[in-house]
Amino acid sequence: MLRSQLFANDALLQSIADDNDRISRTRHSRGDSVRKVQTALLTWDPGALPRFGADAVYGNETAAAVRRFKIEELSVAPAQAIDDVGPRTVIRLDEIQAAAEAPPPPPPPTPTLFVRRDVWTLQSAAPWDPITIAYARAVRTMQARPMSDPTSWAFQAAIHASFVTPANPAWNGCQHASWFFLPWHRMYVFFFEKIVRAAVLADGGPSDFALPYWNYDQATPRNTLPQPFREPTLPDGTPNPLMLPAGGRSAGIQAGGQLRTADTDSSNAMASTIFTGPGGTTFGGGVSAPAHFDGESGMLELQPHNIIHVVVGGPRPAGATNCNVGLMTDPRCAALDPIFWLHHANIDRLWNRWLDSGGGRANPADSAWLTQQFGFFDETGTAVRLAGSDILDSATQLNYVYDDRPTPVAPPPRVTPVAPPPELGAATDQVIDVTRRVTARLVVPDSTRSLIERLSSRAVGAFLAIENIEAERNPGVVFDILLNERRVGTFSLFGIELMNDPDHVHDGAPGLRHTFDAAEVIASLVSMNRWDPDALDVTVEPVPPVPPPGEEPVAIEDLDLPPVRIGRIALFVAEAGPDLVA
Ligand code: C2O
Repeated sequence: MLRSQLFANDALLQSIADDNDRISRTRHSRGDSVRKVQTALLTWDPGALPRFGADAVYGNETAAAVRRFKIEELSVAPAQAIDDVGPRTVIRLDEIQAAAEAPPPPPPPTPTLFVRRDVWTLQSAAPWDPITIAYARAVRTMQARPMSDPTSWAFQAAIHASFVTPANPAWNGCQHASWFFLPWHRMYVFFFEKIVRAAVLADGGPSDFALPYWNYDQATPRNTLPQPFREPTLPDGTPNPLMLPAGGRSAGIQAGGQLRTADTDSSNAMASTIFTGPGGTTFGGGVSAPAHFDGESGMLELQPHNIIHVVVGGPRPAGATNCNVGLMTDPRCAALDPIFWLHHANIDRLWNRWLDSGGGRANPADSAWLTQQFGFFDETGTAVRLAGSDILDSATQLNYVYDDRPTPVAPPPRVTPVAPPPELGAATDQVIDVTRRVTARLVVPDSTRSLIERLSSRAVGAFLAIENIEAERNPGVVFDILLNERRVGTFSLFGIELMNDPDHVHDGAPGLRHTFDAAEVIASLVSMNRWDPDALDVTVEPVPPVPPPGEEPVAIEDLDLPPVRIGRIALFVAEAGPDLVA
């Protein structure tokens, strides 16, 4: 049987292949079968018939080409090579023709390494770039899907947390205040990105699509909301799904106001050299069972993660149980804001950068962390599960890297609390209610007076802990903590509503608590001769929302903040040990 499309079903050629006939200058010398032989000869050698080509006439040129074919292709000795078309010629021409007709073999599947890029770099030339346009169009596609579809925008956001009832069992799963914060959100963003990429590809968008990230911890304009999230329309004039209706974000941020470095700075988290452990000063959070919002947050979660949520979202109306206003401020709305995913890509990037910076920085080796699985949905809507051990290396296990790999500089390691645990040196003695700037004095008991005095020698570590922070709802502003008017840190109350949730009470939970390394501030107070154990004042100062460019911030008194109560502010001191001081 002749296999090529050209020769198949040609009775004469089949008859020749079966050695029952011939084509020569005198036999079947004209016609379609001749033209097919000539076409196959040209497939073999495009220069085989230079004058007449495939003219369906078996003349001298074709006869000579057939003879040369026999010598070169069939290894017939020149003396034996006669110029008619016999079975071996037809069969070999058929093979050559069939191979040429076959579609090219598919390239071996090379796993693509996707690169998540800085969104501000992508759009450095123009307000829109192909990746961000593709993201916007995919968001629109996902928003058009019904909430019952696991690949829909609403379902994906509800996996994080949601007001919608009755809740699907796959919803309300985000891991906060826990050492699962980083792995859970890595998996979450990974599968979301697959869903977005599938929508991008179906739309004819860039095949190397990867989610961009927003690195706000850079100079203006990069510390402002990326331009595509502020445009009412896409370049084609259709409504831009990356822009939220008024109120969806803090007005100043939406207008391009600048985030404070005090809010975007990740250096405290990056300086920590341990992923998990007690004490509230770890990179990745305290050991916990899988929990929605119930334990000790890692420093990266606290800052910039929690702070960015609240600064971008801004205040929400009292009692709001919908997602019309201040989306990023409430975990039940946050993932409905398209900027959420770029924020989380950035947090995920910082995890990679933290590991790259060495100094003993490593992921937990505990099997409880490595084997804990979480469930998500892939781009086909199929339920999938991953464990911690599946996502440790984004490049080799999940096929993505960030465009800033490898890290340029390692941050210097700083003092990290080590055993013996820091000792309580001074503390406020009454509950502090914060609705505006408030200052309280740290009381130094006689028993620790000398310890506090010794702080001026610098050879000790010092931590300021803000303990038992309670609020009925998130005021939607962040709070600076000052020690004798020097800023020690900033905190936000992201997730406080879920910590208060009676469905999520957890006996023995430490309550919302933030611990700040105060050593640097104390050293500077000492150097200015302002370290006095009898005059240690801590100030909690609500920070007004970021104003639009060129405007003054509103007065905090005008905001009518819901009360925030702080149980205690305490200064912990660690005696100098060999590995305490970097
Ligand atoms: Cu689970 Cu940024 O939140």
